[in-house]
Amino acid sequence: MTDQNPDVGQAGEQPLIGDGVTQAIVRVGDTVRRPARPFTRTVHAYLAHLHTAGFSDAPIPLGFDDQGREVLSFVPGDVPREPLPPHTSVEEVLIELARLVRRLHDAADGWTPPGDAQWGGTPGAWNRDSTSDGEPLVVGHRDYCPGNVVFRDGLPAALIDFDLAKPTTRIDDLANALYYWAPLLHPKDRAPSFVGLDIPHRVALFADAYGMTPTQRRVLVPAAAAMIHRFHVNMNAAAAIDPVFKRMWDEGVKDRLPRAEAWLRDQGPAIAARL
Ligand SMILES: Nc1ncnc2c1ncn2[C@@H]1O[C@H](COP(=O)(O)OP(=O)(O)OP(=O)(O)O)[C@@H](O)[C@H]1O
Ligand SMILES: [Mg+2]
Repeated sequence: MTDQNPDVGQAGEQPLIGDGVTQAIVRVGDTVRRPARPFTRTVHAYLAHLHTAGFSDAPIPLGFDDQGREVLSFVPGDVPREPLPPHTSVEEVLIELARLVRRLHDAADGWTPPGDAQWGGTPGAWNRDSTSDGEPLVVGHRDYCPGNVVFRDGLPAALIDFDLAKPTTRIDDLANALYYWAPLLHPKDRAPSFVGLDIPHRVALFADAYGMTPTQRRVLVPAAAAMIHRFHVNMNAAAAIDPVFKRMWDEGVKDRLPRAEAWLRDQGPAIAARL
């Protein structure tokens, strides 16, 4: 599409600051404008499918404006930032997130991406971030970081920023959500109100709310361990070629990921026992 309101120029553009990976994101009225990337058309096809399939808790893809930027509907609500605020550590948040991801997966299930689909990924990691079992089943969000979850009335209500969406397994996508929200992190690396939480109990709550199958429960811990290891390898590689990732790496990722790997090796059996 072309810009629906030709009067809206720079002056009507309100900058949106996220995790800093994507620059120049702005809000214009009820829309968000983001730079178009090679994978943007594919993501729009995915988002359009989700809405057709009845999943409306994601931006509506509205095409491209006359500057070539992607246009998405603005999703109302609050987006938390790291460190996660205390109100996000209550169990209801985790339960609602699991239900949200379940509805996303069910809507995505059975969708065949366009033949010329292109997907995003961590810079330099295009071929290394495949799923643990190599069996693409469903296009998942794959980036449930706090800045990509929109809250309303204190609970997760919608997902934004589908830049890392691509075919994955449900279990790998769930491991990603749990990494950020259980969280699957060493206590030292958690927001203050998450430090003392019973993580095995929280993972079990999430599994129940999603409706994880016995097989999914069995493979969750090894899938999460493999995912965190891939994060580590991929972020290390991205830091070598991309200044934004270099800053993230230097500011803590380089210690947080190996600590998470060690913590999960230690706590994995306790988590598996509760599933
Ligand atoms: N469709 C949308 N509706 C409402 N808010 C949005 C929308 N898109 C982006 N935002 C706001 O702008 C912020 C940044 O957008 P986005 O998450 O797309 O980019 P980013 O976080 O910089 O990228 P990345 O997550 O790759 O680092 C979001 O955290 C959110 O606050
Ligand atoms: Mg984001």
